[in-house]
Amino acid sequence: MDKLVSLAKRRGIIFQSSEIYGGINACWDYGPLGVELKRNVKEAWWRAMTRDHNNIEGLDAAILMHPNVWVASGHVAGFADPLVDCKSCKLRFRADQVPEENLRDHKCPNCGGELTEPRLFNLMFKTFMGPVEDEASIVYLRPETAQGIYVNFLNVKDSSRRKIPFGIAQIGKAFRNEITPGNFIFRTREFEQMEMQFFVKPGTDQEWLEQWREERFNWYLKLGIRPEKLRFHQHGPKELAHYAAAAYDIEYEFPFGWQELEGIHDRTDFDLKRHTEHSGKDMSYFDESSNERYIPYIIETSAGCDRTILTLLVDALREEDAGKEIRTVLKFHPDIAPIKAAVFPLVNRDGMPEIAHKIYDIIRPYYKAFYDDSGSVGRRYRRQDEAGTPYCFTVDSQTLQDRTVTVRDRDTMQQERVHVDQVLNFLRDHLAW
Ligand code: GAP
Repeated sequence: MDKLVSLAKRRGIIFQSSEIYGGINACWDYGPLGVELKRNVKEAWWRAMTRDHNNIEGLDAAILMHPNVWVASGHVAGFADPLVDCKSCKLRFRADQVPEENLRDHKCPNCGGELTEPRLFNLMFKTFMGPVEDEASIVYLRPETAQGIYVNFLNVKDSSRRKIPFGIAQIGKAFRNEITPGNFIFRTREFEQMEMQFFVKPGTDQEWLEQWREERFNWYLKLGIRPEKLRFHQHGPKELAHYAAAAYDIEYEFPFGWQELEGIHDRTDFDLKRHTEHSGKDMSYFDESSNERYIPYIIETSAGCDRTILTLLVDALREEDAGKEIRTVLKFHPDIAPIKAAVFPLVNRDGMPEIAHKIYDIIRPYYKAFYDDSGSVGRRYRRQDEAGTPYCFTVDSQTLQDRTVTVRDRDTMQQERVHVDQVLNFLRDHLAW
């Protein structure tokens, strides 16, 4: 993890938020390469949801919502962790992470001081809407994007004339005042979710849950994640969230252990029922095919965008013995690599820079590309390996004779020659978009 965090900083992938002020805990900024990586991850997910399926619509709901949304969803009453405070050293612990004997004896695991009784601590961030800071103007930063979809169920269904089964997909920020954030971008207080809510007829929910968990697992495989690092974890009765009848996590084996990457939940009719009760708007559905009215069941796929990025980084980072030195390489799937192609003139003379600039200008409008003419070509390759760039094009003396350039593959380090006019086609053939 230390190597990854320092590489991420050095190469402009991820920086600590507000670093010049000493940083702010559990908040991170995406740098020039990180923002490209993140856009690619979101694009891959968006395409998998709204292009590969013909029954999923998109949505982009506001982060601030009516406070009653969070009463209806159960978050005001139940989205809380039990905490204990030490009266001496003032450290705060999640009660479930304090050893049992310390809890029993009310002794702080850090200093031996006296612990308070466990108290529930709500994880939602609060702020005030409008000029008056009183109870009536409290609003929350959404702790999940899902509720924005549920409250728009009727709007989306009616405006897009969808029939059940259909889904709504959304990518957006969520906020949780986590007690134990950490492990880089694994658990943060501000993060992005990629959630899809699939509305189905009651009784068909188990089948859809199976189908979606399979599909979501395969998505990570398609992004090139090593299969032996992925597994399912099925929630036992005690682990299930207040809204779920059944749930699976997709887990990845991080350097700090197996951890949840995505949740796939059968949320039953819990959400639409609660919003019907609290808003007074009837959220039931009339099914013309069976002539019945029912409240749809919801199968949810809830992925963390930042957590996916951490997974991709961890899985891609390799250190290989390259003779005299260690080659550090990020073996990203080409579709999510921040830079798709680098262009080098072998030397800065004999007309090579002019041809290389032309190639760079041809690629640039279509793919994120990088031009580099400093240092030996070997060093330039290494720099691109570290950034995860899948293809490097080099203009050399042969180019001057036959208008071909070398293209070097990041993973195999093999080189082949392609005609200058075919560079863009080469990339189109090797990249999904
Ligand atoms: N709508 C359901 C829901 O939010 P969740 O299991 O609480 O379910 C879903 O969260 C996903 O969101 C997680 O699997 C994880 O990828 C991501 N996530 C949740 N909390 C996070 C945090 N504090 N930091 C980063 N990602 C988080």
